[in-house]
Amino acid sequence: MKITRSLSGVALSAALLGVGFSNAFAEEETLRSLADKNNIYIGAILNSQWFGGGLPGNYEQIHKTQFNIVVAENEMKFDATEPSEGQFNYNNGDKMVKYAQQNGMRVRGHALAWHSQVPGWVNQKYGGNKKELLRVLKNHIEKVVGHWKGQVAEWDVVNEAISNNEPQWRTGSVWYQGIGPEFIDSAFVWAHAVDPDAELCYNDYNLEQGVNPKAKAGFLLEQVKRWVANGIPIHCVGSQTHVEDTTTDKHFIGSPDSLRSLAKELAKLNVKLKITELDIGFKSGINVSKSDLERQGQTFRQYLDIVLEEPNADTYLIWGVSDKWSWLGGLNRQKGLIYDDNLQPKPAFDSILVRLQTYEPPQDSSDKDSTEKDSTDAFKAIAGLTSLSIHLSGRTLSIAGATATKVEIFDMQGRPVFSAKNVKGSVDLKVTEGLYIVRVREGSVSLTKRIAIH
Ligand code: G3I
Repeated sequence: MKITRSLSGVALSAALLGVGFSNAFAEEETLRSLADKNNIYIGAILNSQWFGGGLPGNYEQIHKTQFNIVVAENEMKFDATEPSEGQFNYNNGDKMVKYAQQNGMRVRGHALAWHSQVPGWVNQKYGGNKKELLRVLKNHIEKVVGHWKGQVAEWDVVNEAISNNEPQWRTGSVWYQGIGPEFIDSAFVWAHAVDPDAELCYNDYNLEQGVNPKAKAGFLLEQVKRWVANGIPIHCVGSQTHVEDTTTDKHFIGSPDSLRSLAKELAKLNVKLKITELDIGFKSGINVSKSDLERQGQTFRQYLDIVLEEPNADTYLIWGVSDKWSWLGGLNRQKGLIYDDNLQPKPAFDSILVRLQTYEPPQDSSDKDSTEKDSTDAFKAIAGLTSLSIHLSGRTLSIAGATATKVEIFDMQGRPVFSAKNVKGSVDLKVTEGLYIVRVREGSVSLTKRIAIH
């Protein structure tokens, strides 16, 4: 159930082990180009500040270069789209849909039925009135899904309907109190009737904390089984995955392995798992060291592995671009995203990038393009874009076509193992025998290759 774009040029997977290298880099690789190659969606929200034009230009440049799926932080929610009864406002959502279309990105819609960000009029006029609340919710879903029919590819139809404290429904929501849990079933049916082609998700947090009857994911799984058995059109579970760094917060109990277990259970029901709001925060107030950021990068990679490896997982969406614009402060967490305050990529960015470069999907060897193999141990970026080229002899890496490059070496898990700045001509790589990814960078030009050190 991965996305069905063609697997053109599996660049690194076709590289020779040993001294040969693939020669398939027509342009700089981005998270987006590698996500496309790996048939997954990788994305980040458009922060609310973007809609008002309050972000620097390189924010948008990074966003559209690195990501192939987008979701609005707040602008498609109930209070944004129907602030007064029957008065719909699609302006900001339209702005995002246009941006996505201009840049060839998939659009996620978030969120139709949620207990939060419901405008005051709903409760004031209709709180506790089942018949009226059913009418209000149905009308809202029909209008909003209808407006973006064919443009929003997937919707969070129901968000956070399960209690946080014990596995049961969240009883405090206006929808639950007035209608009962069947508001969920109805919401899916209404959304599907309006846009039968849209993927419809149930979205929630803390789903990475175990699939057992005492955990939220265990309770949810039982509901998904029931929905599927009853013909409710649910196609995906969104795992928000707002998690904490486990070394700086010992109490956090979530893990990538638990989320993977949920993906496997959902696969049995033919339901997808999507990671929809990922951030990996540190406790506020602590000093975050370089090694903390590298460990954070490994956790980002472990969650990515689920999306790369589980056939029913296709989406890896991060709840923000830069640490500067993140909701995490309100949760007493910090630095949970993959770009820092200055929009510079963090180790987590590198970890994701390198993992996407090194991932080799299990497939027939006949699918791989043997013409990508290069019989020499020299390799170049394709002429025209850059004349940057590198050559490896023993442990000496020679660089041509650049004056002062940054050289970085990563192991196959994406961990940085060597780095040198201002390299002019050549550098001795201080690494042990093995397989690595080398990246050389000068300004905005970079070249990334797999190498083997003997
Ligand atoms: O729109 C008002 C504005 O008029 C007012 O001047 C301003 C003053 O504070 O507040 C604005 O509303 C804020 C809104 O974001 C839009 O910026 C709210 O105060 C603020 O609480 C709200 O926070 C959002 C939060 O959802 C609300 O629950 C965050 O930006 C948003 O990142 C967050 O996203 C949620 C997902 O939807 C669901 N999963 C959890 C995730 C993180 O909480």
